[in-house]
Amino acid sequence: MKIRLGIFDSGIGGFSVLNSLLSSRTDVEVIYLADLARNPYGEKDSEEIRNIAIQISDWFKEKDIDALLIACNTTNACALDLLQNNLKIPCFDLITSVSKIISSNSIGILATTATVKSSFYKNIIKNRNPDIQVFQQSCPQFVSEIEKIPINFEKINFLADLYLRPLLKKNIRELILGCSHYPLIYQILRKTIPSNIKIIDPSIALTNSLNNHFHPVKKNNNSNKYDNVEFFATGKIDEFSLKLTNWLEINKKITLVNLRREA
Ligand code: DGL
Repeated sequence: MKIRLGIFDSGIGGFSVLNSLLSSRTDVEVIYLADLARNPYGEKDSEEIRNIAIQISDWFKEKDIDALLIACNTTNACALDLLQNNLKIPCFDLITSVSKIISSNSIGILATTATVKSSFYKNIIKNRNPDIQVFQQSCPQFVSEIEKIPINFEKINFLADLYLRPLLKKNIRELILGCSHYPLIYQILRKTIPSNIKIIDPSIALTNSLNNHFHPVKKNNNSNKYDNVEFFATGKIDEFSLKLTNWLEINKKITLVNLRREA
């Protein structure tokens, strides 16, 4: 039997979670929701993000899912309590999952402005170990640039340098990619970050949390790994279709949803 999972993000950031999930197991059906009409979330205030989280969790209630993967750090940081209370099914999140695998005393975090403002990452890491030093850096323009087609590599390189410079002046040992869009530009970031700093992609920790709870039944199968994924978006369907081709190399139906009306 397949487990039915919901994944959501403001856009394509959740692809990092989707790919990590599908490379670890095939016994899943996935409902992927991209809230492209309201992307980016990271520059919104916490109240707006909490309202969006209510609408998203109400929508997922109708989808009969066994668990939710919160593939958006910003919503994770501002509205985890609300998602968990509203859905009453297991909700696996990036930030709690990654906080358990920190292995050094000096951590850098790259994240959206809203995630940094919430200090959710910092608090959860420090609650586990108050001696760990945590340095946060917001990256206000990254998400919009990563969502662009075609991607402007020159601009992304420039921004990577700009956002990383203050963090690299600290003596960090690990760097958390605290926005699910950032693992999509891992290669660019890796070039700018010295090799003695470990880069942590929270989507792997999140997948491990899920797999510890629902043990995978891995089967060989020759079908395309995205066959059991249904895609939904709140807007920009044509653009999203291009992004599926560009990032996942698939061409699939996307269903338009109106969360505001349905909520
Ligand atoms: N990818 C999301 C995150 O992990 C949302 C980014 C955004 O929309 O600004 O924070």
